Amino acid sequence: MIGPAEENRIKEIVQPILLKGRKGDWEHTLRAIDFGKYLLQNEPADEDIVIATLYLHDIGWSQIDFSDFIQASPARKIETQGLALHMQQGARLADELLSDLGYDPAARRRIVAIIAVHDEPEKIFEMDDPSATMVVEADRLDRYGKQSLQRYLKMFGPDYMETEAWQEGNTLRLDGLNSWFKTATAKALAHKLAVEMGLFD
Ligand SMILES: [Fe+2]
Repeated sequence: MIGPAEENRIKEIVQPILLKGRKGDWEHTLRAIDFGKYLLQNEPADEDIVIATLYLHDIGWSQIDFSDFIQASPARKIETQGLALHMQQGARLADELLSDLGYDPAARRRIVAIIAVHDEPEKIFEMDDPSATMVVEADRLDRYGKQSLQRYLKMFGPDYMETEAWQEGNTLRLDGLNSWFKTATAKALAHKLAVEMGLFD
């Protein structure tokens, strides 16, 4: 189990890095952690892996030019260089940071392997590792709910909900309810947040 001192150390290290990434990445990470902690209360997984991975999963954005990601339509973001690079660079930087922190090499390898594919749910689910699955669930839960609306406005501009991209994103979110979540706890929460954000209206 990850202790409060260890968690605070990682948190202090990632905050300035995440603030250099996309707008809202730091707040997104904190919400993903909250989702992860909630899932951990209800589903089996390795807490130390899930929490450390969630803090580190998006640090790669700080290392790259992500303008192609911001400009691409929601359905095309998956094909952008930026998306691929943030996973690759995030995995590299996480490996360095965890080495510096003296992390156990086996845990470090597991965390780095998850970060390297965290935005490709199919690859994560193929790992057949409940902790990897939980990272994707906690990350993707932040695409739903009222707080996520604020995140999109910050990242893509104040008129984002007026755009076709928003509608396209909502189609992905509706499909995502059936493809991004495996555990009963995550599925139920995603559905509740989807209702709250008006996805079915
Ligand atoms: Fe990411």
